[in-house]
Amino acid sequence: MLIRRRRGWELRESEATPEAAFLGRRSLIKMLVAGPILVPRLRSPIEQAADGDPGKRNPRYTLDRPLTDEKLATTYNNFYEFGSQKSIAAEAQALNIRPWTVKIDGLVEKPITIDVDELLKKMLLEERLYRHRCVEAWSMTVPWSGFPMSALVDFAKPLGSAKYVQMETFLDPKIAPGQKEFWYPWPYIEGVTIAEAGNELAFLVTGMYGKPVPKQDGAPLRLVLPWKYGFKSTKSIVHFAFTEKRPVSFWETVQGSEYGFWANVNPEVPHPRWSQATERVLGTNERVPTVKWNGYGEFVAHLYDGLEKERLYA
Ligand code: MTE
Repeated sequence: MLIRRRRGWELRESEATPEAAFLGRRSLIKMLVAGPILVPRLRSPIEQAADGDPGKRNPRYTLDRPLTDEKLATTYNNFYEFGSQKSIAAEAQALNIRPWTVKIDGLVEKPITIDVDELLKKMLLEERLYRHRCVEAWSMTVPWSGFPMSALVDFAKPLGSAKYVQMETFLDPKIAPGQKEFWYPWPYIEGVTIAEAGNELAFLVTGMYGKPVPKQDGAPLRLVLPWKYGFKSTKSIVHFAFTEKRPVSFWETVQGSEYGFWANVNPEVPHPRWSQATERVLGTNERVPTVKWNGYGEFVAHLYDGLEKERLYA
C-alpha cells in the first residue's frame, strides 16, 4: 500500500492562500500576441551547434512580467532524482551529461539511438520567453532556448498508430541519490498526446539565459510545456517512445488522485489540498492570479475540444 508522503513541491494546506482573498482580481494585460513567426533563419543548425549559439529570440511568445532572476531560477529546483528539497543544484553536478544518447523508438518508421549533439545539429535553435507554473503554486519566467518538439516528432517519423509520446529521464542511482528511494517508481516518466507534442508551444530545451541549460534544470535536454503544471516538463531526457497506449506518469503512479495525465493549468480547479487560484512569483513573492492554460489558451485550448469528460486540469 502506498504511504502518503508530502513532497517538497507540495504546499501545506496552511500555506495555501484562500481563494476568497483573491476575489478582487485585477484585470490582466492581454499576454500573448498572435502573429506571424518572424524568426530569421540566418544560421544553419551545424553553425549554431559549433559555437553554442542559443538562437534568435522568437518574438511570438511575449510576457506580462519581468524575467525571473537567473540565479534564483537555477537554484530553486524540483529534481527528485537529487532530493526532494529545492536546493539540489550542487548534488545535480554529479550528472555526467556528455556523452549523452537519446533513444527514439516505439511506433516510428526507424527507431534510432542518437548522440544528443548529433540530434542538436539537425535542429534549429531559438530562444523563447515562457511563464512556468508549478503545481505547487509558484511561478517563474524564463528565457529558454531549444527547438520545438514538433521538430523531434518530424525527425522520428511516427507511424499512424502512434497516439502518445512518452519521455523518460536517465536512471542512475549511483549518482542520483533520490533514485535510491525505492518507493518512487523510477525512472521519471511523463507523456503527452501526439497533438500536444506537435503543438507549437511544446519546446525541447537545451539552454536558458543564453547559456547551456544547467544540470539542475534538466541538462542536456528537457521538455517545457508552459500551459501545463511544471511536473509534465520532464528533465534530462534519455528516451522518447511513441506509443498507442497512454503513458502512466511518475506522479500519476505515486498519487493518481492528485496528479493526472493532462495537468493543464486552471485556477478554477483546486488541487485536492490547496487552491490553484493564485501563484507566488519567484523573486518578488507577489501573489498574482493564475490564468487558465497559464495564459496560453489561444495556442492550446483547441487541443482539448471534445475531451471535456477527461480530468483535464489535474
Ligand atoms: N523531471 C525530473 N526528471 N524529475 C523531477 O523531479 N520535477 C518537475 C519537472 N521535471 C522533475 C522533472 C517539476 S515538479 C517541476 S515544477 C519542474 O521540473 C521544475 O523545473 P525547474 O527546476 O527547472 O524549475
